Amino acid sequence: MCSIIGYSGNEIAAPIIVKGLKRMEYRGYDSVGVATESQNQIELKKGTGKVTEVNSKFQLDTLPGKIGIGHTRWATHGKVTDLNAHPHPSNSGKIAIVHNGIIENFEELKKKLEDDGYSFKSETDSEIIANLLQKNYESTKNVKDTIMKTVSEIKGHYAFVAMFENGQLAAARFHEPLIIGVGQENIFLSSDVLGFIEYTDDAIYMKSGNFIILKNREFQILDFNGKEIKHEITKVSKEFGDAYKGDYAHFTLKEIYEQPELISKAGDRTINGLEEAVEYIKNAKNIYVTGSGTSYNSALIAKQILSKYVKIKSEPIIASELQFAPETIEENSVLIAISQSGESADVLEAVRIAKKSNCKIISIVNLLTSSLTRKGDVVLGMNCGPEIGVAATKSFTAQLIVLYKIVQKLNGNITINFEEFSESISKILENPVKIQEIAKELKEVSDVYILGRGINYPIAIESALKLKELTYIHAEGIPGGELKHGPLALMDTDVFVIVINPNDSTYTDTLTSAREIKARGAKIIGVSDIESDIYDYWIKIPKINEILYPISEIIPIQLLTYYSALEKDTDPDYPRNLAKSVTVK
Ligand code: G6P
Repeated sequence: MCSIIGYSGNEIAAPIIVKGLKRMEYRGYDSVGVATESQNQIELKKGTGKVTEVNSKFQLDTLPGKIGIGHTRWATHGKVTDLNAHPHPSNSGKIAIVHNGIIENFEELKKKLEDDGYSFKSETDSEIIANLLQKNYESTKNVKDTIMKTVSEIKGHYAFVAMFENGQLAAARFHEPLIIGVGQENIFLSSDVLGFIEYTDDAIYMKSGNFIILKNREFQILDFNGKEIKHEITKVSKEFGDAYKGDYAHFTLKEIYEQPELISKAGDRTINGLEEAVEYIKNAKNIYVTGSGTSYNSALIAKQILSKYVKIKSEPIIASELQFAPETIEENSVLIAISQSGESADVLEAVRIAKKSNCKIISIVNLLTSSLTRKGDVVLGMNCGPEIGVAATKSFTAQLIVLYKIVQKLNGNITINFEEFSESISKILENPVKIQEIAKELKEVSDVYILGRGINYPIAIESALKLKELTYIHAEGIPGGELKHGPLALMDTDVFVIVINPNDSTYTDTLTSAREIKARGAKIIGVSDIESDIYDYWIKIPKINEILYPISEIIPIQLLTYYSALEKDTDPDYPRNLAKSVTVK
């Protein structure tokens, strides 16, 4: 998703901004731009491509001045073009803006501005903000009134930073992230702490509906009615700045390899604690579990383990679907909201709907400074460190561990030896050679199906998601028993099928499905703790407590998709068209 950054300080702004944008690359983007102010002049450079490419083409980091703004764009309104890239200057060139979010009434505002003589160079909704600011600044002659008037006119979800030719910066936040980094010599305005963590770990998490006005290092935070707001400086965990690949070729690989270690830590950092979460669950009328993408797949597993191990019924809900059936939520229930970033707009919307029905919110979240953290009655931290690879890997495992810890608390008879489990996971990762060989076989394959039953079905779906994200191969998760109700028609010699087949109650039926598939000529990759000659390729997983199978299945599949991405020459860390944190609906 778009990242915005603003800088005002004692150093030359452009190189610092470019570095900040680079660190926020993981959020996903397709174009880059920087604008700076020097001697009451705004200069601006932008283009499509990666930060390093655009920088070497246009030398963004040579722009002059100690005040600037920067942006990585993830296209929503308008194609991926140089002109649509941010920053956008206003018609006079005296103001430039960067924006993350969506301006819903942009067509109406554009029309009005055009009637007033303004013209537009881009197809974006964001350019409206630049011209609206210009119009309001010309009439109010001061930045505070300009921002107040502008935010009263725009509708939607947004965070923007505006730079005025007198060197003043202003930024407003409405349901999109915006964090102020407070350094000794400089102030940052950024979508993510990674934008400034190298310079300072003092941050102010701006509230939605607030704006900041900044000149040099002096700033004021106000609400949209113009009332000054007291602010609190929080120390950002240094751990979240520790986002380097180290010796690994990619973040995704590093994050896959971090999983054995996180197993013991997940869920340990909580706000209000597991006990309270468990009390809410026990007393709830109904339990709903929501998330997007991978986090939704965790919700599917939550349903299975809550019903199997503690006889508690729960309903998984795709976060983006809830707005179309809000009546699903009964009063006085519990919503378990799962999100690595804690900023997925769909999840936050689901939380809003549930809160309206008086539900308690249990947030399972990695970023403890996120919006979802603030909205939780109980917050259970995934505690897995920064996840930079766009496709979720270690956060999925951490989510499941937190869910297992909830189940263990609800049923004292369940004992899970996490340490032993962590060791067996390390063994899977020790020798990836076989997985690398299978990855070579997938290079030319266009369709992969993944089969699983019971608790292994969500893993089939999650595996398909990983394949789509990392390799762009068409992949589909199939509940084993449904094979003969349709998908069998797709099986032929061009197809690969991954069969998730641990030694649990689903084993025999799934082996039968594998036989049926093999009879149609498709190649079979068996993920199992038992070898079988039905499998053309066998990925061995450890024999363990069956509640833990999902994690031991997904880890080798994450590796397989990672190595397949390398074979196919796609970028595993930054898949095309995807964003790490989808902060728009
Ligand atoms: C995006 C990412 C996915 C992720 C999903 C949910 O779509 O590309 O990898 O699973 O968001 O993210 P969250 O931060 O809410 O867990």
